[in-house]
Amino acid sequence: MSALGSMRIQLSDRCTLYGGNCLDILPRLPESSIDVIFADPPYNLSNDGFTCQGGKAVSVNKGSWDRSDGIERDFAFHMDWIKACKRVLKPQGTLWISGTYHNIYACGYVLQLLEFRLLNDICWYKPNASPNLSCRFFTASHETLLWARKSSNNRHKHVFNYEAMKNGDFHRDQLKLPGRQMRSVWAIPTPSASEKAHGKHPTQKPLDLLDRVIAASTRPGDVVLDPFLGSGTTGVAALGGDRRFIGIEADPTYLQLAHARLADALRRRAPSPDAG
Ligand SMILES: C[S@@+](CC[C@H](N)C(=O)[O-])C[C@H]1O[C@@H](n2cnc3c(N)ncnc32)[C@H](O)[C@@H]1O
Repeated sequence: MSALGSMRIQLSDRCTLYGGNCLDILPRLPESSIDVIFADPPYNLSNDGFTCQGGKAVSVNKGSWDRSDGIERDFAFHMDWIKACKRVLKPQGTLWISGTYHNIYACGYVLQLLEFRLLNDICWYKPNASPNLSCRFFTASHETLLWARKSSNNRHKHVFNYEAMKNGDFHRDQLKLPGRQMRSVWAIPTPSASEKAHGKHPTQKPLDLLDRVIAASTRPGDVVLDPFLGSGTTGVAALGGDRRFIGIEADPTYLQLAHARLADALRRRAPSPDAG
């Protein structure tokens, strides 16, 4: 696995992973070939501060990939990867970007400059968020998900599975009322220990969040791409819903984690040899 950092891994006919910088890999993918992109880019928040985890003060630092390079360079990076994503999306394709106030305004401004059509901003509310240690700020308990269509032209209809959102089973979400329209505030706890069985990633998203994104905005057989794969959550949700998946991750350790997690997800979905 040591060479994973620079390779293409064909996990199955429905799942391809790339090790490397998404700015190098996205230009190699065919233009207008992707239905939906979910991107959870660096937050640019690893500034040596402290937060609270399990009642203890811990560093906020996620890794060198999350350090800020200054506002202008961070903005240029967001411009580059979002532009590269726009090229590979189909005209009716949509891009989800997940982030916090450290990066989400820059990403939103890029979407406007590149003439995406902004469809929604979702507030992902974390009912189990960690308390604020300094007691000098509100406790950060949400992240924002921007959802935008490549084409600003309304002739290009994006997928929105309205009925699945209205009538699906969301009993773990304390805000979603059965049979009522899905609103733009989603209450979903951070990932449980069982979702980290293959190893830990400092910013792993809950599977419930990605299951909802995939169920809302894609159809079976669609191609879903994640340029900042991390632990592979988007892939687990996409493959679980019979979609195809492409993931890109720069850090070989996280690529290995995603590889193990997705191989396991594929094994669980494969029909047993004894099945009639
Ligand atoms: C916020 S995390 C994604 C977490 C993921 N959504 C999950 O559920 O595990 C961002 C990931 O992007 C990776 N990364 C950062 N810059 C990258 C780049 N230029 N190309 C590809 N991956 C990158 C980091 O190593 C990190 O694992």
